[in-house]
Amino acid sequence: MSQREIFIPISRLRSDPPAGSAPVLDTFGRPLRDLRISVTDHCNFRCTYCMPRDRFGRDHAFLPHSQILRFEEVSRLAGLFHQLGVRKIRLTGGEPLLRRNLDRLVAMLAELPDIDLALTTNGSLLARHAASLRSAGLKRLTVSMDALDDAIFQRMNDADYPASDVLNGIDAAQAAGFESIKVNMVVKRGVNDSQIIPMARHFKGSGHILRMIEYMDVGSSNAWRMDEVVSAREMLASLGEAFSLTPIGRHYPGEVAERWQHTDGGGELGIIAAVTRAFCHDCTRLRLSPEGKLFTCLFATQGHDIAGILRGGATDEQLTRRIARIWREREDRYSELRGAGQGSTQKIEMSYIGG
Ligand code: GTP
Ligand code: 5AD
Ligand code: SF4
Ligand code: SF4
Repeated sequence: MSQREIFIPISRLRSDPPAGSAPVLDTFGRPLRDLRISVTDHCNFRCTYCMPRDRFGRDHAFLPHSQILRFEEVSRLAGLFHQLGVRKIRLTGGEPLLRRNLDRLVAMLAELPDIDLALTTNGSLLARHAASLRSAGLKRLTVSMDALDDAIFQRMNDADYPASDVLNGIDAAQAAGFESIKVNMVVKRGVNDSQIIPMARHFKGSGHILRMIEYMDVGSSNAWRMDEVVSAREMLASLGEAFSLTPIGRHYPGEVAERWQHTDGGGELGIIAAVTRAFCHDCTRLRLSPEGKLFTCLFATQGHDIAGILRGGATDEQLTRRIARIWREREDRYSELRGAGQGSTQKIEMSYIGG
């Protein structure tokens, strides 16, 4: 049976349980488990696959400061999401470390019981912030890094940052006590596919977990083309020529990475086949934008304005009911339908909603 066939829309069969009675299930029976909070739409990089400079130049309309959620607002919402079953929160951006005093937000969120608190960063400012984030209670880190070779790395980030800045950030994070740091590499054909082996070699035995990601058609700016996607199958074929790898099971249901390990004890490596082996069937992720809109899919075109309700004086009960309803009505599975030619032109940008 294909993954597409196991979808059973059950929204109309289920009566509305009261808000707050976890778990809340969407129309395909997927529980709400992860919240990804984008704290800013700004970034100091201009990765060509995410914020191409011709679209994100001086004229780009970033969100006005007054609209961005304050930490107290984010923290209040996070508490409500937690009541609804969220147990993993990932802070993203843009580049989250551009948000001033982010460690203050980390400290607030770290107080939630039984919460897996993680952050995704481009690593350029990590050396400066790693220790304070760690002592504020951040548990896990993911660092984006697309190449070791400076010419290739700078061609991708289009902002003159050398790879050594990111490597120094990773070292500082390790020194600050972060373990099993994940390193995300988006692979684009003809741009950094030559770095697959050097990156894998560099991180082998380091204790960090490199994950190679298929280049996705997120947003409406990156002029994505299928022929620029290096498939998981191709990546694994290249890796198989240089290393001996064996598959290992997923850590938890809904994990996006397929996990592999070096048979000689060199550690773990992941492949995220976001295009060729979509993982919508157990997607439990909800996304909160910097100005407080909720998006039920990375490829959504419209968000639900939760900040408007919050700032309008809603009670916790009213907010929780609204959020639960948004999740119950969720029927997104963009990546599984991509092959069927479904696709909107005005999707939200990754730099706005986070990876
Ligand atoms: P942990 O398992 O918690 O460490 O994190 P993760 O495996 O979810 O990794 P991370 O959040 O770093 O996501 C890795 C990459 O997978 C992102 O940068 C995206 O490129 C892709 N990705 C993550 N979530 C989704 C999703 O919901 N849909 C799609 N299509 N891609 C996603
Ligand atoms: N395809 C795949 N991954 C992407 N990311 C950003 N844009 C894309 C894309 N088009 C990932 C980056 C980073 C995270 C924030 O999102 O690698 O790790
Ligand atoms: Fe690159 Fe991440 Fe910044 Fe996008 S948000 S431009 S992927 S560093
Ligand atoms: Fe989830 Fe949408 Fe990504 Fe599918 S495409 S895994 S539904 S965020």
